[in-house]
Amino acid sequence: MTIGELLNYGFDHLSQAGIPDAVLEAELLLEYAIGKERIYLHLHRSQNVSETDQEKYQSYIADRCRHQPLQYIVGQTEFYGLKFKSDKRSLIPRPETEILVEEVLEHWQPGFHSILDIGTGSGIIAIALAKHLASARITAIDQSSGALELAGENIKLHGLEGRIILAQEDLFPSAPDKFDCIVSNPPYIPSNQMAGLQPEVRLFEPALALDGGTDGLDFYRRIAGGVAGRLNHPGFVALEVGMGQAEVVAKMMSQALPESEIIIKKDLAGINRVVLVKMQ
Ligand SMILES: C[S@@+](CC[C@H](N)C(=O)[O-])C[C@H]1O[C@@H](n2cnc3c(N)ncnc32)[C@H](O)[C@@H]1O
Repeated sequence: MTIGELLNYGFDHLSQAGIPDAVLEAELLLEYAIGKERIYLHLHRSQNVSETDQEKYQSYIADRCRHQPLQYIVGQTEFYGLKFKSDKRSLIPRPETEILVEEVLEHWQPGFHSILDIGTGSGIIAIALAKHLASARITAIDQSSGALELAGENIKLHGLEGRIILAQEDLFPSAPDKFDCIVSNPPYIPSNQMAGLQPEVRLFEPALALDGGTDGLDFYRRIAGGVAGRLNHPGFVALEVGMGQAEVVAKMMSQALPESEIIIKKDLAGINRVVLVKMQ
């Protein structure tokens, strides 16, 4: 088959399976299957594709028709301008989490050194911060051994082995360390909304990365419960939150750190997305 025929094949199957953006996804998957950029596909529509690459593409299309996320099929993703390995061991990074990274970079002060990343998943937040903050030493925690394995592979990919320490712990490290910055994108979907998530998320992404308990706020309660003993002064906490959660999380945090200044930041869709808690 030619590139053009394969693109039509991909589009027909993806649109029949109800995948939005079937044109774009058919092209992206062919890019990965034959290792050429999209512009090449457009300029060489009548070029024949080898049988091996055809089979690879058809299996990618079949996986996508079963609603497997594209990032898991091709095994990679981008976050904050960096490439990362991505697979079912961890959540796929979301664009709104880039706001969390931006806020940490904006509120970082000279003299700060240590960061705790709670629920590091594939390591994207810790790695993006390490790339931009030359003086930062980062402890990245997760409860999932699969996620920690993937984070380790991503840390190696970016040559940051000496800068980020991974630990399998339940939220906070067992050693009584304190940090200049605590950052987290914890699970925050209310348990009763898990069954209604789109199939890409519900069937493929790990529930441990999503389920935030009955009202979605379990992890914020636990972070608020432990934060006072873990944050240096001056220091700050940056938390990603779900839609409608910012005010209640801000309240929990101001009760946990009564002297703090609280700032709420919106994402590009205008949703309150990051709660910052600053201690002088
Ligand atoms: C929403 S995901 C965030 C992953 C990554 N930081 C990101 O922003 O894409 C939440 C992460 O918290 C981890 N997690 C869940 N419960 C935890 C716990 N009790 N202690 C530490 N990490 C936990 C999950 O395994 C998952 O990797």
